[in-house]
Amino acid sequence: MNLFEWRSLLNALSEPVLLINKSREIILANGIAQELFGRRIEGSDFARAIRHPAALHHVDRVLAGNIIGPEPNTVFRLAGSIATTYKLSVTRIEERTGTSSTFMIALKDISHILEAEQMRSDFVANVSHELRSPLTALTGFIETLKGSAKDDPDARARFLDIMEREASRMNRLIDDLLSLSTLETNERIRPVSKASVPNILSRVIATVSPQAEANNKTINFITPDFEGIVNGDEDELTQLFHNLVENAVKYGRADSEINISISQNDNLIIAIKDAGEGIPPEHIPRLTERFYRVDSGRSREKGGTGLGLAIVKHIINRHRGRLIIESVVGEGSTFTVELPLANASG
Ligand SMILES: Nc1ncnc2c1ncn2[C@@H]1O[C@H](COP(=O)(O)OP(=O)(O)OP(=O)(O)O)[C@@H](O)[C@H]1O
Ligand SMILES: [Mg+2]
Repeated sequence: MNLFEWRSLLNALSEPVLLINKSREIILANGIAQELFGRRIEGSDFARAIRHPAALHHVDRVLAGNIIGPEPNTVFRLAGSIATTYKLSVTRIEERTGTSSTFMIALKDISHILEAEQMRSDFVANVSHELRSPLTALTGFIETLKGSAKDDPDARARFLDIMEREASRMNRLIDDLLSLSTLETNERIRPVSKASVPNILSRVIATVSPQAEANNKTINFITPDFEGIVNGDEDELTQLFHNLVENAVKYGRADSEINISISQNDNLIIAIKDAGEGIPPEHIPRLTERFYRVDSGRSREKGGTGLGLAIVKHIINRHRGRLIIESVVGEGSTFTVELPLANASG
């Protein structure tokens, strides 16, 4: 093949590819490689494209013929506006004529694979950590009950209460994890049934009310004069609003009000507004990550698993909706959910 044919072939690829000669000069850069390293990269030393020492060393070894057999890969990270990790492979291209050698350098962006691996291992670490703390508490109290507290009925009753609380926290954690995994499996499948959001909200508020009253908090909600029907799964929507209303109660100030409003245009818009301490802006984008908490000590103390908003996000995605979080530190937060109305979305 001549250079022209090589160019049209390599331009058809969606990953950056370079051809270099034995003195490391770039003789051809495909379109993607030019976008990455600059239009005028052809003719210059390969080191101008990739300055990464490990990558250079690898290329040099292949060029010098020090590697016998299939050339291995090297993985390196390019810092840019978005740091990207590439797998680089160098292959000698056999020429039928002449003695000059050409080498093909192919780069493969493997960032997303590494990210997924990282997320998976973070997740396992998080789950283990979350399960370990109630377990440690349980083991500790069992020891105490077998030993020093054996003949102390008051202490025994107190410890059993704590143990019950810790055990139910583990239960909740496992329930939430199972919900998340079911939701992830179904996320692409649209719900087929219909559900009335105002009815769901009224029921959720009735469930959460005792918790609010215990802290002297009032939940205000005026039932609207429209039906507010969406294509949705009743149980999932209940879980979604239960989480948000419960958060408003949990993180609202004592003696404060929680205002829930519902309106409609093309969408149904539900806003849950609390008067709490609010959320500093740097935390807002991360709130829907699994186990992300602004103040983890306080959330755990309130029995939270830190999975509530992750579940909320998945339910909203499945219902093709949107979640908007606004918050002013010291004043409170508003969580707004937008869901397409059943007649609008068909
Ligand atoms: N209305 C709110 N006001 C202030 N902070 C909030 C509010 N809602 C959520 N947060 C913050 O976001 C974090 C994540 O919320 P999320 O509902 O996912 O977990 P949680 O409430 O801690 O636990 P769970 O919902 O599983 O019981 C909370 O720990 C809290 O720091
Ligand atoms: Mg919550």
